[in-house]
Amino acid sequence: MRPTARLAAVLAASVALTSGVQAISKVTRAGRYLYNEDGSRFFIKGVAYQIQGQLSNDPNNPFLEPSTFVDPLADGAGCTRDLPFLQQLGVNAIRVYSVDSTLNHDSCMSTFSNAGIYTIIDLSLPVNGSIDRLSPAWSTNLLDLYINSINVFSKYDNVLAYNVGNEVITASNGTAAAAFIKAAARDTKAYLQSKGSSALVGYAAVDADSTWLDPLANYLSCDPSGANSGNTAIDLFGLNNYEWCGDASPSVYNGKNGDFAGYNVPAYFSEYGCITSPPRLWTEVGTLFTSPMSDIWSGGIAFSYFPAESGQGQFGMVTISSDGSTVTTSDDFDRLKTQYGQVTPPNSPSQSSAGTTSYPSCPAANTTFLASSTLPPTPNDAACGCLLSTLSCQFAPKTTNTSGIVGPLLDTACGLLGGSGGNCNDIAGDGATGTYGRLSSCDPSTKLSFVMTQFYEANNRNPQSCDFGGNATVNSNAPSSVSAANAAASSCLVNPSATFTPTAPSTTAKGGNSASSGTGSPSSGNSSGAVSDLLIHKQALMGVLIASAVSFAGGLLALL
Ligand SMILES: *[C@@H]1O[C@H](CO)[C@@H](O)[C@H](O)[C@H]1NC(C)=O
Ligand SMILES: *[C@@H]1O[C@H](CO)[C@@H](O)[C@H](O)[C@H]1NC(C)=O
Ligand SMILES: *[C@@H]1O[C@H](CO)[C@@H](O)[C@H](O)[C@H]1NC(C)=O
Ligand SMILES: *[C@@H]1O[C@H](CO)[C@@H](O)[C@H](O)[C@H]1NC(C)=O
Ligand SMILES: *[C@@H]1O[C@H](CO)[C@@H](O)[C@H](O)[C@H]1NC(C)=O
Ligand SMILES: *[C@@H]1O[C@H](CO)[C@@H](O)[C@H](O)[C@H]1NC(C)=O
Repeated sequence: MRPTARLAAVLAASVALTSGVQAISKVTRAGRYLYNEDGSRFFIKGVAYQIQGQLSNDPNNPFLEPSTFVDPLADGAGCTRDLPFLQQLGVNAIRVYSVDSTLNHDSCMSTFSNAGIYTIIDLSLPVNGSIDRLSPAWSTNLLDLYINSINVFSKYDNVLAYNVGNEVITASNGTAAAAFIKAAARDTKAYLQSKGSSALVGYAAVDADSTWLDPLANYLSCDPSGANSGNTAIDLFGLNNYEWCGDASPSVYNGKNGDFAGYNVPAYFSEYGCITSPPRLWTEVGTLFTSPMSDIWSGGIAFSYFPAESGQGQFGMVTISSDGSTVTTSDDFDRLKTQYGQVTPPNSPSQSSAGTTSYPSCPAANTTFLASSTLPPTPNDAACGCLLSTLSCQFAPKTTNTSGIVGPLLDTACGLLGGSGGNCNDIAGDGATGTYGRLSSCDPSTKLSFVMTQFYEANNRNPQSCDFGGNATVNSNAPSSVSAANAAASSCLVNPSATFTPTAPSTTAKGGNSASSGTGSPSSGNSSGAVSDLLIHKQALMGVLIASAVSFAGGLLALL
């Protein structure tokens, strides 16, 4: 050891000694279970930790998904304030639904790491920061959002998992979106591996009818190539489960236990706690952390530490004073604390007998589960950026808040293009047929500029056809002939269906501004799973609906 390196090691050791803190154990997966470094089984004994954002009052959003968020891991004083209460609860993990990669998280992450508390971090954000359940895409803006957050959190030793989605699918007719979720898991996993991170990649599902929940779980952890590869598989399946109310009987879980008895990757309750019949007794804790459930599940996340409201009820175990300085606990807190205090989960199976994870082939699509095992490509910033620079008519909004206008403009532009004999197939992606247009994974603004350009060119560059109510502008740098534009665009999109290990975005991500479902925020499960919650404006979808559903008679525009 060179002297300087040795000195550094000694210093590091003495810092650890003087603070009386041991580094948090690295958790790894073996077979379908999680293990600590010492080989003992790891169970998630957690609580949701997310201050609720502004609630949407859209009547089409019965789950009241928030439209704004507060990043709780950027509030160092708040984390210090809350730590003693999390310790009283006896939790070893918190789930955080929305983080802001532009903020500093050092204080919270070290406060929790030093206390042996892991984080499960959802990468999506409300409104346009998550896979849209009604017109799903896995696109450059989302990939870049996810990568920016991973880059910020990968330096911390207590990130247990990143979730690529929360309740994106809420009904059988939305299951085609699973193809985009699986692609998100694939690319997020490849990126984490390229950074040497061992954090797990998860998805949190709404509880639902087994005719689509079971195939969804199996699909997210399957190998479409049939080669027993985990490259496109999640590492951790989360179920938001609210079945137990009052002092129920363990038989409440018989159905779910049966459904997941043979599952191939670790599964846990990514949210739990009764919704509809207070008071919550939390007696399910004893059932969840003992056999037979402990053979099937790796613990759970009680919902929720902070106050939270949903269409179906109020949650929350503490209230914070208006000046943010003090915490008042409730009876709900005390009951969960008592139950978590009694948990002694079994230490079996042993790590050596857990085996390796197998990745079965994917479930066949049918009328209740629609997703194709042909996945969308890896979003390609370079290709989409290259394409954008060649487009002769570009989206140039007058407002920075474009999340509400891209959808209506896509609707307008695709409608106009259809009337001019073109179509929007290039920007569409269909997870049910496994058909993805060559721009399907570009961000929504680039897609819009592409459609505007097609319309503008179809009208022989009549200036009035590149206006769109003042939302578009002519790009004088675009190649001056249609054939030159064609050639430039084709050279940008050489391999539109490629999958590859993504790299960090080189510049700040361009605004991708589709309307999107407000996932990635505290949600209330409803085991019927029948209600699709819409945060989006209905018209915002029309563009993509046109794009995916309507084929205009006139045939393709021979523009690009
Ligand atoms: C599913 O069906 C419901 C009506 O039953 C509809 O409101 C919703 O938009 C559909 N969802 C998708 C993703 O098509
Ligand atoms: C579709 O397949 C799943 C298993 O992958 C099954 O649970 C479900 O019942 C099937 N649906 C129909 C309508 O057959
Ligand atoms: C952005 O615009 C949408 C509708 O167009 C609106 O609902 C939302 O509140 C706006 N957001 C901000 C931050 O102004
Ligand atoms: C831009 O498009 C939006 C949505 O179609 C429209 O409401 C607005 O009037 C357009 N023009 C400007 C200048 O924002
Ligand atoms: C969401 O929209 C805002 C503008 O309203 C934009 O700045 C941001 O980049 C978008 N986020 C994503 C992930 O597309
Ligand atoms: C779930 O939603 C369905 C349909 O809206 C409703 O009938 C049912 O009461 C809800 N269940 C719970 C537990 O809230």
